[in-house]
Amino acid sequence: MGIEDIIREDLAPLVPYAPGLRASQVRERTGVETVVKLSSNEHPCGPVPAALAAMRAVLPRLNRYPDGACTALKSKLASRLGVGTENLVVGNGSNEVLRLLAQAVLRPGDEVVFAWPSFVVYPMVTALFGATAVRVPLDEGDVHDLDAMLGAVTERTRIVFLCNPNNPTGTIYRRNAFDRFMRAVPEHVLVVVDEAYFEFVTDPEYPDALQWFDGVRPLAVCRTFSKMYSLAGLRVGYGVAPEQLARAVDKVREPFNVNTVAQIAAYHALDDEAEVRRRRAENQEQKTYLYSCFDRLGISYASSETNFVYVHATRPVEAFQALLAEGVIVRDFGTSPALRVTLGTREDTERTIRAFEAAVARLGRL
Ligand SMILES: Cc1ncc(COP(=O)(O)O)c(C=O)c1O
Repeated sequence: MGIEDIIREDLAPLVPYAPGLRASQVRERTGVETVVKLSSNEHPCGPVPAALAAMRAVLPRLNRYPDGACTALKSKLASRLGVGTENLVVGNGSNEVLRLLAQAVLRPGDEVVFAWPSFVVYPMVTALFGATAVRVPLDEGDVHDLDAMLGAVTERTRIVFLCNPNNPTGTIYRRNAFDRFMRAVPEHVLVVVDEAYFEFVTDPEYPDALQWFDGVRPLAVCRTFSKMYSLAGLRVGYGVAPEQLARAVDKVREPFNVNTVAQIAAYHALDDEAEVRRRRAENQEQKTYLYSCFDRLGISYASSETNFVYVHATRPVEAFQALLAEGVIVRDFGTSPALRVTLGTREDTERTIRAFEAAVARLGRL
């Protein structure tokens, strides 16, 4: 009897989440001094100012446990979103919320439908709770094929994850397609809409999934403070769910899953709407500029509603290395024919463009 006999054998095929390269690793590897990390869809600016001040003020009180019920944050989110506090789940990042929802509903043998490529956490939580992943390819425009996803639903389907906008492609499905999907999806399926990049979207046809939320229908909507609010390092995200599901999540979560600093920062970040508007406009400007350079270089990409762009590459491994040699870290997907580039500051965009120019000069085409 060894340690391998003690560990759950069904964990063997699972692979731990692989984070992108850190700037320090690339500095060491390439000798390039100023490295720009554009591989994790982080916001280039620090936390919104209102959140920073509040975090500093709370530090002397960290001898106390957090508010396990996230009372103040839930109450502010509830009035902001027009839902009840009993409908809110707060997590250590929206990643935890996705996992808790899965933990609360999945039984071994269930099926979980999601688009592919999409957020890597969906197959991970599916496997973790003994369910079977059903991947539905994106359409030719790199967009969720909601009709095909509906077609993949069976009696054993327990969850459908929809990622809108989608990571890694940055694309959205539009209101008509979502309304059609919601009208047709059977009642035994929990629809989980992951809106981690909600605040970046500018397309007027983007469907806010909360408009379908009535507290009864099996629908959960997840968002995060990691992206637009720049609080990725703190870990705080939330979900809106029917009350019974939110209570079930309370049973499986840790008692103090969201730390005090995160709760305070998220609470105050919500007040800074002007900063969110400014950041959204700035992101849009950088994206338009990057597109114009990609067009000039003959680089193909998916139209993005987020703070990252999905670049089609026929030689992704070489392209990734060529960009790295220029000190720009993007996200690769092994041999999948694409790279994902996060948008940053104006300087980051200039740097990205120079790196892509150098990569094209070296490789001919990406
Ligand atoms: C689509 C999507 N959902 C959820 C998350 C998780 O974000 P967090 O756990 O930081 O809230 C991410 C992070 O990259 C994401 O891209």
